[in-house]
Amino acid sequence: MSNWLLIIQNILLILLIIFFCLLFWIFILARIIRKLYKFPIPSFTTRLIDNPIRRRFIQKPEIIAKRLKLKSEMIVVEIGPGKGKYTKAVADKILPHGKVYAIDIQEAVIKRLKERVEKEDIPNIIPMIDDTYNLSFEDESVDRIFAIACLPEIPEPVRVLKEFKRILKLDGIISLCELFIDPDYPLRRTEKKWAKDAGLEFIQGFGNWFVYQLNFGKSLN
Ligand SMILES: C[S@@+](CC[C@H](N)C(=O)[O-])C[C@H]1O[C@@H](n2cnc3c(N)ncnc32)[C@H](O)[C@@H]1O
Repeated sequence: MSNWLLIIQNILLILLIIFFCLLFWIFILARIIRKLYKFPIPSFTTRLIDNPIRRRFIQKPEIIAKRLKLKSEMIVVEIGPGKGKYTKAVADKILPHGKVYAIDIQEAVIKRLKERVEKEDIPNIIPMIDDTYNLSFEDESVDRIFAIACLPEIPEPVRVLKEFKRILKLDGIISLCELFIDPDYPLRRTEKKWAKDAGLEFIQGFGNWFVYQLNFGKSLN
């Protein structure tokens, strides 16, 4: 009997090792593909990324929103809202007069978010398609801009950050959040360099190597 138990234990252990090896190689393969080809991840995968485990233990929407130092009347732009859980956390904090413009490149993402906004009767989220290289906002008209696991997905991140700088108010904040399990994950120093190249000034960093949030502002020079 104990022999059987030992055999089953060993089989389970081998299966577990195979599973993690597979996961590792899938991750490496995904990173290589993402390095070679830049394209928005399909809309259905945003459902996988935005899951309760991540929101509860890894990237809590309330904490990300708190680090944006929001006030009630603010105009906020989010790039790449996905399912919109983080959008909602931010939108709640700027009620009653503030607005979040949730911008995505994919029709399917925006359609799903519009349906959610209508169903849950959220008054201050405006889902829209827009061009991140040429956003339809006036110069210096936006208080906060944030993007979670989105900027490294866009082929020319420095160009996007320059556009963010154009629409950001003088005392505004641009907040970039990344997560290691995202196949597009850049190191902090890479993202800081993009921001520097776009003429932005680093204000504050949060988190660790695995999951981080970096705040930038307009350089005063
Ligand atoms: C990895 S998902 C992240 C979704 C969400 N922010 C989250 O963290 O759960 C990236 C999102 O960025 C969007 N995206 C990719 N390229 C974009 C672009 N050029 N302009 C706007 N959104 C873009 C994708 O459609 C997708 O919704």
